Amino acid sequence: MEDLREWIRQELWDQVPVAISVIDRSFHIIEANRCFANTYGEWRKRPCYEVYKGRTQRCNNCAAVETFEDGQLRIREETGLIREGLQTYYLVHMVPFFRPSGELPYIIEMSTDITAHKVLEKEKLEAERLAAVGQTVAGLAHGIKNLLMGLEGGVYVFKSGLHQADSERMLKGWGMLDENIARISTFVKEFLEFAKGRVPQVHLVSPNRIAQQVFGLFEHKAELAGITLRTNLQPDLPYALMDEDGIHTCLVNLVSNALDACEISDRPSRSVVLSTREEGGTLVFEVTDDGTGMDYEVKKRVFTNFFTTKGSDRGTGLGLLTTKKIVQEHGGRVSYESAEGEGSVFRLQFPRDRLPHPVEEAKSEMLCKTGG
Ligand SMILES: Nc1ncnc2c1ncn2[C@@H]1O[C@H](COP(=O)(O)OP(=O)(O)OP(=O)(O)O)[C@@H](O)[C@H]1O
Ligand SMILES: [Mg+2]
Repeated sequence: MEDLREWIRQELWDQVPVAISVIDRSFHIIEANRCFANTYGEWRKRPCYEVYKGRTQRCNNCAAVETFEDGQLRIREETGLIREGLQTYYLVHMVPFFRPSGELPYIIEMSTDITAHKVLEKEKLEAERLAAVGQTVAGLAHGIKNLLMGLEGGVYVFKSGLHQADSERMLKGWGMLDENIARISTFVKEFLEFAKGRVPQVHLVSPNRIAQQVFGLFEHKAELAGITLRTNLQPDLPYALMDEDGIHTCLVNLVSNALDACEISDRPSRSVVLSTREEGGTLVFEVTDDGTGMDYEVKKRVFTNFFTTKGSDRGTGLGLLTTKKIVQEHGGRVSYESAEGEGSVFRLQFPRDRLPHPVEEAKSEMLCKTGG
């Protein structure tokens, strides 16, 4: 039995499909197993960085140095060169090799080749990237196709009115053309805004003033639809460094979504509240509605480009994605809670210390507004 154990122990060293080496404090390899020699070639009297990576100097951020310092086991993903000169990816365990006295003269480096996984991972990322490009192009083409159908309809109605000398029909056709041209214009603007990633024009602005403006924009529309639109703005909310147009766009998107959700809900009384507040150094905008809410499937996809449940003649499915992008450009985050049949709340949070820096002329304006 003891013989068997001894034999296993001896064989284990050379049979394991893991490259194992032992390095000393000068980073020289003093022992290595067969897998190591087969993978990295001659190792005797050579330092680990030369054998693993073909370097003449120690690596930056060397994990072995850290393990020699603190005696902790470390796991790292590394790239290296195998004996044929090919690049390889490996996962290395740095195991401290203590003497009973507590001294740490050596480290065992155990490297598992993960090149095949890495190649697969890269291929997967590339495939996902291509799929995303395809999805974007398909969504764009789909949006344009629907808008073209609207235009064709307008042309048809206008032409038939012209042939029949029916001015009312002509006017109707003209109205359809007008409406669809406006839609194309919105679609293209939204798409460009999203794709271009314009540089935020940061100024010191009043968050409440933006909220008031957006409220003013929708007040009438909400009233017509029988929806109560209110604001709940924290008084004396300090100014913030923001891109006013960008934040305006975000709030327009959220309020318009909230009104849409209320419009199709069958509740007798429906309301949307746009609120602002300061919360521990974070500026918060919130849009709450008691509209349809979202089910699991919708929730999963709300931030996906071109995702809309409104039909392609009404929604482009870029509103929330654009919002998220603008908010992120301000160092903030978008979150939401929603319950199907009960309503939703969309929240924009801007930690003040992460807000962007002002453009030059805004600095003097800032001094005036803050009294500095
Ligand atoms: N407050 C809300 N209540 C219920 N569903 C919502 C709400 N906000 C967003 N959604 C869902 O998320 C989808 C995506 O919203 P998003 O604003 O990105 O696009 P959209 O409103 O459909 O089109 P648009 O690009 O014109 O804004 C909506 O179609 C809707 O299904
Ligand atoms: Mg929207």
